Amino acid sequence: MITLALSKGRIFDETLPLLARAGIALRDDPETSRKLILATTDEQLRVLVVRATDVPTYVQYGGADLGVTGRDTLLEHGSLGLYQPLDLGIGKCRISVAVRAGFDYADAVRQGSRLTVATKYVAIAREFFAAKGVHVDLIKLYGSMELAPLTGLADAIVDLVSTGNTLRANQLVEVERIMDISARLVVNQAALKLKQAPLRRVIDAFAAAATAAA
Ligand code: PRP
Repeated sequence: MITLALSKGRIFDETLPLLARAGIALRDDPETSRKLILATTDEQLRVLVVRATDVPTYVQYGGADLGVTGRDTLLEHGSLGLYQPLDLGIGKCRISVAVRAGFDYADAVRQGSRLTVATKYVAIAREFFAAKGVHVDLIKLYGSMELAPLTGLADAIVDLVSTGNTLRANQLVEVERIMDISARLVVNQAALKLKQAPLRRVIDAFAAAATAAA
């Protein structure tokens, strides 16, 4: 049995068409089912429904053989014990710095001001600002980061931007793009040795589906 970890939302929605291209469908409707282990039409493949930030953890420790996770999540988690054979080209977005409209970010950076930055992506933000030589105080948040500059909690946020609608709706502006993000396949390194043939088959199916979708 091969176990694939997926998170509900964007990654789930964009991974299912890739599985469908490989002729694999879920036996339960993930929208209505409360099950966290979903059978598929491939008797050798099952899907675990986990939180996005937990996908690398499940795969690292072997709770799942492989998983689909955003580059953002992977950079925060670290890639110890994870083999990353494929960029799936799904879940595309970017991670950016955003501030309240009217806040002169460029000037603050030029002046060498110390900035307070709220983010879920502490490792990415720390590395980015350190490389720029900007002094920051980082505040870890777990969601609704857009509120931080609006309430005075922070000068800036580091967050995912896709359409930009969330920023616009909250009168925030994107002032710097840190990196482009897409979803990766991650594989448990030990499982790759122990279950080589069946895992290779699933990885190859993902590779073919991702190429066809590109
Ligand atoms: C992300 C991000 C923004 C939003 C950006 O949240 O945190 O809030 O998407 O998308 P947009 O540019 O298309 O408006 P997500 O929906 O992934 O949920 P999260 O808050 O749990 O991270």
